[in-house]
Amino acid sequence: MKKTFKILACVMTLALVALVFASCGAKTETLTMATNAEFPPYEYHEGDAIVGIDAEIAQLIADKLGMELVIEDVDFNSIIPGVQAGKYDMGMAGMTVTDERLESVDFSTSYATGVQVVIIKEGSEIQTLDDIAGKKIGVQIATTGSIYAADDYGKDDDGNDNGNVIEFENGAVAVQALLNGKVDCVIIDNEPAKKYVEANEGLAILETEYVTEDYAICFAKNNTELKDKVDAALKELIADGSVQKVVDKYIAA
Ligand code: ARG
Repeated sequence: MKKTFKILACVMTLALVALVFASCGAKTETLTMATNAEFPPYEYHEGDAIVGIDAEIAQLIADKLGMELVIEDVDFNSIIPGVQAGKYDMGMAGMTVTDERLESVDFSTSYATGVQVVIIKEGSEIQTLDDIAGKKIGVQIATTGSIYAADDYGKDDDGNDNGNVIEFENGAVAVQALLNGKVDCVIIDNEPAKKYVEANEGLAILETEYVTEDYAICFAKNNTELKDKVDAALKELIADGSVQKVVDKYIAA
């Protein structure tokens, strides 16, 4: 009787050990996405969670690939260096594909279009793009809006920085500076612009659009294996309407 019990205990212990090992082996691979979650409706905080179009599309991609999505909220300008260094598997942050960035990272298929627009205070002197020259312009650090604004409005006749383009940590802070009168306008992507205008009294968006661009996911240049997998999943999700469904959930047609 005692012996039977011992054997039983042994078998059970072995079974337990096997179970632990099995579950270890089955541990799903993680897909770490770097983003900057101050960019509604693409990524923003809702309580403890990071939600938005990018977060949901990334989740669909991870599900398709049987991977576990981990989202890291970092400064926008540390996304590309972090991806290059292999700290994050990919960067997804309403990020525009540009020739300059293509020198540092690879991009997936584009999944959305962005337009750089200009937010002003209602009744502002700025009514068209022509009125921007000489005014103080708030931008999000290291974004395309910042780069274009610096090229078009940030230089004096000798090509030196004229101090008119002021970079802020993120869009929310730039919009705060507009509300406080520290800048005269903010150049930022259209969908976040709409959210900021909705959330604050007395702001408006200029009718004229500044620059149109494509959003895509970035990867380290040597990580073509992951890029190809993610790209294939993303293409399927675009083709079967899943991406559009996510977009429609966050952006009213
Ligand atoms: N589309 C712009 C860019 O690529 C701005 C993106 C900012 N994204 C963010 N999550 N803060 O530069």
